[in-house]
Amino acid sequence: MSSNLSAVVAGILALLIPYIFWGNSHSPFEVTSDGTFTSPCPQVHALLPKTHSELFAVLEEVYKTEEFKLGAYDKLSGAVGIPTESHDNMRPVGQDPRWDIFHQFHGFLESTFPLIYSSLRVTKVNTYGLVFHWQGSSSSLQPLLLTAHQDVVPVDPETVDQWIHPPYSGHYDGTWIWGRGSADDKSDMIAQLLTVDSLLRQGFKPRRTIVLAFGIDEESAGTEGAGKIAVYLEETYGRASFAMLLDEGDGYGENTRNGLIFASPGISEKGYFDAKIEVFSVGGHSSIPPRHTSIGILSKIVVALEDNLHTPFFPRSGTAFANVQCAIVHGPDSSPSLRRLAHRALTDDDALEELKNYLLEVDPIYEAMLRTTQAVDIVFGGVKANALPEVATAVVNHRISEQSSVKEVTNHIVQIVSPIAAQLNLSLIAFDLAPDQEAVPTNRIVLTDAFGSGLEPSPVAPIESGPYELLAGTIKAALETAGRYNSTGVIISPSLGLGNTDTQFYWNLTRHIFRYSHYGDRDDYYNGLHTVNEAVKGEALVEHVRFFTTLILNIDETKLFD
Ligand SMILES: *[C@@H]1O[C@H](CO)[C@@H](O)[C@H](O)[C@H]1NC(C)=O
Ligand SMILES: *[C@@H]1O[C@H](CO)[C@@H](O)[C@H](O)[C@H]1NC(C)=O
Ligand SMILES: *[C@@H]1O[C@H](CO)[C@@H](O)[C@H](O)[C@H]1NC(C)=O
Repeated sequence: MSSNLSAVVAGILALLIPYIFWGNSHSPFEVTSDGTFTSPCPQVHALLPKTHSELFAVLEEVYKTEEFKLGAYDKLSGAVGIPTESHDNMRPVGQDPRWDIFHQFHGFLESTFPLIYSSLRVTKVNTYGLVFHWQGSSSSLQPLLLTAHQDVVPVDPETVDQWIHPPYSGHYDGTWIWGRGSADDKSDMIAQLLTVDSLLRQGFKPRRTIVLAFGIDEESAGTEGAGKIAVYLEETYGRASFAMLLDEGDGYGENTRNGLIFASPGISEKGYFDAKIEVFSVGGHSSIPPRHTSIGILSKIVVALEDNLHTPFFPRSGTAFANVQCAIVHGPDSSPSLRRLAHRALTDDDALEELKNYLLEVDPIYEAMLRTTQAVDIVFGGVKANALPEVATAVVNHRISEQSSVKEVTNHIVQIVSPIAAQLNLSLIAFDLAPDQEAVPTNRIVLTDAFGSGLEPSPVAPIESGPYELLAGTIKAALETAGRYNSTGVIISPSLGLGNTDTQFYWNLTRHIFRYSHYGDRDDYYNGLHTVNEAVKGEALVEHVRFFTTLILNIDETKLFD
């Protein structure tokens, strides 16, 4: 996962606590409709397998056995033990020996899941990308696509001694399984494989084809793994050929104040853009300097950018709106006035504006949810104390709002930089306006896409559709039957991904793309995402298998409406 998404729900709940007073055990709002919403936070019923109920019951018993549990922990430990690190500067597969470790990882998978390798068709895409094809008997049901990634974030050697158990030990201490990848994202992959393996052992034959696809560089560019797998899947299965895609994402969290569990499947993710700003000027001895050196000019630009935020968007059709409504309606302690405001915002534009402004003030998480964010993350320029810098450079990272676009970001930057260029008599060469090399003046500002990795915000998966309802009903059922919680209920709240997953490559395959990992907020990340002491609870891994089992059996016996 490329950024910390799982904090979002917890953050929202925490911030709403002082404002919300929760009295009733059900929503106080009557159902309303403004064309996009039938209720402030639409919910579905828990969905358990019916046709497959006997098989499901058998598997439930299997999953309770020590033998299954310890075997599952052992398989995840083994996967963690192979350091499939992906680095930002890796050359393509075949040209960089650092990929070789994936060969060993494949050997591990093959020897650990022999039944899967003998029963499913396994395709290697770009050598190390993995696709498992489990043919269903019905050609009228579109396949289900489950994805995860094989690679992990590198461990900083400086931090190894801060790990409670070594980062590639895969050590199981009786509660936790430790190591890099134990949560992100080998747990997703191993849980999917454990589920398929368990179903195969029971002789299950799917009606709906199931495809598993595992990339190799989600933690860096994604282009060698999911990027190539996407092309293969589109060629093999066709455009819009999958019923639904589930990839890693946010999980669920328990609210201790009202006993509700909030689960947050991601239905969209923000776009991405790294702008490079370069200021070129004539060099020379710094005893006779110009009024502004290129570093000074770059500073003016940075200050101007930070003083001009991008416009926040909060439309009723957006993911943030759905998410906020769920948090307010079902949050633990709502002030009546905030509830009324949220309710009025369903139909009243002034209330919508007021709610938006309130959210932006109350917590920075809403800045990230509603706005295109900008962060000046890299700056350099100058080499010597007595020499004028010929060039100064900054890279500004943007996460693009669901309602905005790469174009809007570049336009915004040009709008900010133009007056500065004009004021200082510098030429401005901006993005796609490639100049004639001959004509390029020395004193200039050049704006480019820093790494060519610009990404539009994703399409938004519809929530009033069969696939979302099936997923939401499955999550609810898996939680209600888990026996790990004393919850008073489960709320499924669609969420917006603030970072990007491998799903960015899969848009052509289905419009029903979801990002969700069935882990509770106390089940994983002992210290936090992408840092030391990554760990996952053993019993949570088993819950993950129960979830995938429920999902596969549910979708196998359901004709989804689009
Ligand atoms: C602006 O720069 C151009 C060359 O880039 C130069 O010909 C012109 O004299 C400059 N104007 C001012 C007011 O400095
Ligand atoms: C649920 O509640 C019971 C009775 O209050 C308690 O004994 C048990 O530990 C609780 N379980 C969890 C998972 O919180
Ligand atoms: C999706 O389809 C478009 C249009 O055919 C194509 O240009 C693009 O490369 C496809 N995307 C991926 C990731 O394959």
